[in-house]
Amino acid sequence: MEPFVTNGRPIGVIDSGIGGFSVVKAVQQMLPGEDLVYFGDGANTPYGNYDACAILNMTRYMLEFMRGQQIKLLLVACNTISCLIPEFEGEMDCPVLSVVQAGAQAAARVPQRRIGVVSTCFTHSTGCYPRAIRELAPEKEVVSYGCANLARLVETRLGVPEGQRELTEELRQDFMHLVTGEKIDTCLLGCTHFPLVEDQIRTLYPGLELLDPAREMVRMAGERLGREGLAAEAGRKGGLWIYTTGDPGDYREKARRVGLVHIRDVAHYPPKRP
Ligand code: DGL
Repeated sequence: MEPFVTNGRPIGVIDSGIGGFSVVKAVQQMLPGEDLVYFGDGANTPYGNYDACAILNMTRYMLEFMRGQQIKLLLVACNTISCLIPEFEGEMDCPVLSVVQAGAQAAARVPQRRIGVVSTCFTHSTGCYPRAIRELAPEKEVVSYGCANLARLVETRLGVPEGQRELTEELRQDFMHLVTGEKIDTCLLGCTHFPLVEDQIRTLYPGLELLDPAREMVRMAGERLGREGLAAEAGRKGGLWIYTTGDPGDYREKARRVGLVHIRDVAHYPPKRP
């Protein structure tokens, strides 16, 4: 990888898999001058069915990688990992932003009093979304639902024609609990994999308002970089370096499908077993 100049240091983005591509897309739209280094732990995804100890072990491996990249800011794009940020935040020598905090801010701002949150089972079990939303907006009622298989299906079936029927059926079942069962009309996508299939969710549940934390997270990132004098120079075009413990060819294809641009490299990184 070519060396980065000071202030042109990259932003790091971590996720258990391809889910964080939804955050990268928002960075490329809103902060186009920033270089990005992405790490997706494709060999171990999904994280959401592991316990906290295993998730922390796998996360620390990504943090070690990111320290070597000399990043100026870390975006924890994975909601599952974000629930554990207090456990590892001090281990980075750069600011660390949480997608859960961003999602909570987005949810706190909408006028609806009842809000649904769909996430992985781990995120659901920690109660971190209801807590974070109510801290900002105590009047909100948050109905959380954990999906056991959805992140894995999005990771493996995105853009694969023969996997669409299974993915659609899983989406229909998972969202039915909130939409039909709980009569929710506004739903926060509390797993970064889910915005990647936003169009399919909208087709299944046309009246449902969907909140994606990504844009709020990037707004927070831009504000933080600006405040600390760390924003990339105006007018430059940022590049994207993707590392995965999974299959780089698959990641390249899925990155393109999601609409990511200026991809400089997609490389394999050896996995650590949980
Ligand atoms: N995309 C991740 C999230 O936002 C995690 C999915 C998983 O690995 O379980 O929670």
